[in-house]
Amino acid sequence: MPWEFSEKNKEKAKEILSHYPSNYKQSAVIPLLDLAQQQHGGWLPVSAMNAVAKVIEVAPIRVYEVATFYSMFNRAKVGKYHLLVCGTTPCMIRGSRDIEDALLKHLGVKRNEVTKDGMFSVGEMECMGSCVNAPMIAVADYSNGSEGYTYNYYEDLTPERVVEIVEMFRKGEIPPVGTQNKKRIMSGPEDGNTSLLSDPKPPPCRDLNAC
Ligand code: FES
Repeated sequence: MPWEFSEKNKEKAKEILSHYPSNYKQSAVIPLLDLAQQQHGGWLPVSAMNAVAKVIEVAPIRVYEVATFYSMFNRAKVGKYHLLVCGTTPCMIRGSRDIEDALLKHLGVKRNEVTKDGMFSVGEMECMGSCVNAPMIAVADYSNGSEGYTYNYYEDLTPERVVEIVEMFRKGEIPPVGTQNKKRIMSGPEDGNTSLLSDPKPPPCRDLNAC
C-alpha cells in the first residue's frame, strides 16, 4: 500500500524535526509515528512506518521496534472513536471491568474489534494518571483526520454513563470531558475540601536588612 504524509502533514513533520538537532532526526520517531497514525485513521500500516523511517533516515526496523513497543500505536484498524479502558489496579478496584463489559455488550464487539459501521473499537490501556478519578477511559477521536484529532479522558464513570457517552459520540456530540461526577470539581472531593482550608502560611523569611 503506497503511503506518504499529506502536504499539510509534510509541513508538520518539518516543524517536528526542527525541534531536534539535524544529526538526531531519529529522536522525532514518536511524534512522527503519532502524526502518521492520526493521518491514517488511527493505525499504522507497514508503509506508514516506512515513510517515517525515510523522513528520519533510519532503517525501517528501528521504526517498527518503537511502533510495536508502545501500546498507543495501533497495528490494526480501530474505530473512528477508539475507546481505551484503563485496566490498572486503582481503576480495576473502582469497577473498570464493569465499564469494559458495558462497552463491549452495548457495541456488540470483543476487545480490539471494530463495530461493523467502523465507528467504535474498545481497547485496554494501563494507568493514564487519572487514578484519583477512577474508573476512566481515554477516547482517541480519529473522525476528523489529523486536523481534528483529539484525545480526551472521561472519568468517574459508571456503566450507564459510559454508554451515554458512546451514544453522544454516535450523534456527533462531544461529551464534557473529565469527571462525570457532577458533585466533583476536577479531582476535588465530593463534599468540598477536607484539608488545606485556608491559604498556607508563607515560609519564614530572614530579614536581611536587620543583619
Ligand atoms: S489506574 Fe486508571 S488512571 Fe491510574
